[in-house]
Amino acid sequence: MNTVEIIRKKRDGKNLEENEIDFLISSYTKNKIPDYQFSAFLMAAFLNGMNKEETSSLTKAMLYSGKVINLKSIPGVKIDKHSTGGVGDKTSLILAPIAAAAGINVPMISGRGLGHSGGTLDKLESIPGFRTDLNLADYKRVIKKCGAVLIGQTKDIAPADKLIYSLRDVTATVESIPLITASIMSKKLAEGIDGLVLDVKTGSGAFMKKLEDAEMLAQSLLDTAKSFDKKVIAFITDMNQPLGNYIGNWLEVYESIKVLQGEVKGDLLELSKTLSGAMIFLGGKASSIEEGKEISQELIDNGKAFEKFLEIVKLQGGNVKLIEQPEKYPKAKVVDKVISKEDGYIKSIDNFKIGMAALELGAGRKTKEDKIDFKAGIIFKKKIGDFVKKGEIIAEMYSSSEAKSKNVKSIFYSFLEFSKEKVTIPELIKDIIN
Ligand code: URA
Repeated sequence: MNTVEIIRKKRDGKNLEENEIDFLISSYTKNKIPDYQFSAFLMAAFLNGMNKEETSSLTKAMLYSGKVINLKSIPGVKIDKHSTGGVGDKTSLILAPIAAAAGINVPMISGRGLGHSGGTLDKLESIPGFRTDLNLADYKRVIKKCGAVLIGQTKDIAPADKLIYSLRDVTATVESIPLITASIMSKKLAEGIDGLVLDVKTGSGAFMKKLEDAEMLAQSLLDTAKSFDKKVIAFITDMNQPLGNYIGNWLEVYESIKVLQGEVKGDLLELSKTLSGAMIFLGGKASSIEEGKEISQELIDNGKAFEKFLEIVKLQGGNVKLIEQPEKYPKAKVVDKVISKEDGYIKSIDNFKIGMAALELGAGRKTKEDKIDFKAGIIFKKKIGDFVKKGEIIAEMYSSSEAKSKNVKSIFYSFLEFSKEKVTIPELIKDIIN
């Protein structure tokens, strides 16, 4: 095989064979192809695209660059959920215990925050003692015991993706549907799952800002999952405003606890139940998504979902007392308010900028080495469609320093748009594809 010939083929818009893709991925993972050649391939794939077969071959090559976890010794069906990420998206913390309480195994390998978008691992690590770095034996032990486990990617899981993702990040080749598909699916398939529920976000706080792009990504993820014989359902959901009201790591754990205890309703509860309902349906414990949603609500109402969350936290070393009494969590040093300067309906929120504002307050990282302030973030008191009076509080900001708070406060208001007329709330679930 000749690397230059394969790059030339893709550059000229031709389709690559499975063995050519295999060769590229295994050689790059073994450090036998330099970054400059692999970058040229990535850009050719970015510009000319890859068809269904090529995307499936790329996923396979990336998947088998590492270990595929075998969960056959664990009885029952294994279903996971993957979201393409966004602001205030904490559904994993809610749906994993719900689905596990319904008898579905949820082996979840999650990521950290990326830019404006939060990450499940960082949220979980805001719980003192919670370990996300379990080895494979402990991963299996926890899921066997309680039906759910939430850990981070290990060096053995899809190592090709780790290398390729960092190269894409610095070669402007992230926003490519086949490359995103292979990256996501290689990690998810390595978990040893039978089925997957996909939550593809669209809107100002999402990777895919336009609905058509989100639809295309969802279809590509679906086709690839099916080519590996996995059961799959994809949802296209709104990311034009934060999901729920809390943004920031511990703040999001807090809001998830309140949803699991049945105290918080609204978009976060609705989406969590839809996704867990789909997991319960895919796992064969309900005859429709709707029935899966009803089961999810029952498990919240009878306290079993919250009990399951406590069990997961305990088995992964987290402080259960703080989950039972979340009010005892240490408070942020500085709390400030964003006050409305006018009467009107909130028409839009620049959700990407809100995510960046939360990062600025300390809830995310600017460099890989940055330490997260788990208490930092934003609580929205009003969302799109709500009427606000001049002088009313729109949001509260939590941080560790007056300077950070002041900086964010000076620009926060410009991320909001008001209207004198009533406005339509963006539809939460825009499409279901299966
Ligand atoms: N998430 C991933 O895991 N990979 C991508 O390429 C984009 C989002």
